[in-house]
Amino acid sequence: MLSWDEEVSSAPAPRQPQQAPLGDTGLNQAAAAEPQADAESLAKRVNADDKRIINGKTDVNQLVPFKYKWAWDKYLAGCANHWMPQEVNMQRDIELWKNPNGLTDDERRLVKRNLGFFVTADSLAANNIVLGTYRHITAPECRQYLLRQAFEEAIHTHAYQYIVESLGLDEGEIFNAYNEVKSIRDKDEFLIPFINTLTDPAFTTGTVENDQKLLKSLIVFACLMEGLFFYVGFTQILALGRQNKMMGAAEQYQYILRDESMHCNFGIDLINTIKMENPQLWTAAFREEIKALFLKAVDLEYAYAEDTMPRGVLGLNAPMFKGYLRFIANRRAQQIGLEQLFAQEENPFPWMSEMIDLKKERNFFETRVIEYQTGGALNWE
Ligand SMILES: [Fe+2]
Ligand SMILES: [Fe+2]
Repeated sequence: MLSWDEEVSSAPAPRQPQQAPLGDTGLNQAAAAEPQADAESLAKRVNADDKRIINGKTDVNQLVPFKYKWAWDKYLAGCANHWMPQEVNMQRDIELWKNPNGLTDDERRLVKRNLGFFVTADSLAANNIVLGTYRHITAPECRQYLLRQAFEEAIHTHAYQYIVESLGLDEGEIFNAYNEVKSIRDKDEFLIPFINTLTDPAFTTGTVENDQKLLKSLIVFACLMEGLFFYVGFTQILALGRQNKMMGAAEQYQYILRDESMHCNFGIDLINTIKMENPQLWTAAFREEIKALFLKAVDLEYAYAEDTMPRGVLGLNAPMFKGYLRFIANRRAQQIGLEQLFAQEENPFPWMSEMIDLKKERNFFETRVIEYQTGGALNWE
């Protein structure tokens, strides 16, 4: 057992994640340790096999013994990718934005409509996690990831606010866009009933009907919000960066994209594990309902693409996104075990796949090393 003195006097340890080996329930160690609790208390100890993602009966305060190692691994990966918005230099963006000839009117519209969606989207995401999803998930490994994800959503809201502030944009206009711009409001109005289901204090899981409601909300959130509704916006700002415009904003979006692709993958693992543990939820009627939601979401995101790009801009135009959104929707559908929804679509933006690739040594804009795995300060060149 560690004593406080030992902890304080020892040399600083490397900041590597410490974890018990998987499969070690701790029971053997416990048996050999100090005077122990009585048999009745021992019988209450958590057995990993008893854990469930939803409707579990095991103690949610005990992270170990691990069962859902994939969730813990994603928590560690999220921590290793830590970043903060103010570490990104915005000076060149500010100069470009203030230069009357720096950007075209269509590029300025695109940036403002883009931020108009994102400045509130990540607050919706954070509230959905903290006030909704978290309390319905009974696996502590998954809760641990959700806590990390909630903080990342706060960092994303911070990043968008930081861009708005740096560029001196009209905050009232940008932060109210989700009420005032139809293409943004329509996306949010699609999401809100699913968020409301999870955040309703009276909502509890435990019946097939309610468990399906939970699963549906998780699919909408991971596959359609984080996995589809963010992608027109990400592509637009990263396309600006590829043309050496708004490089600071583009760098922030690249970090956000990296985080969001992990959120989406976590959500998909969560959904697939719930399906595996509760096969009775995945009925034909339920699958049809999900497919209809996918089709609706593709339409809404396409309308947003048209609104933000009424004309071609940056070598992009709205029709290119029709193919891209179908490509993404097919992929998301297949990831949760649905058949693809559209005839085989090619990816018109293969460079976006490079952006999502987390294994690159440098970030796309080559401004600094991207893979800082310390969980601490960034490494500048
Ligand atoms: Fe986010
Ligand atoms: Fe997210």
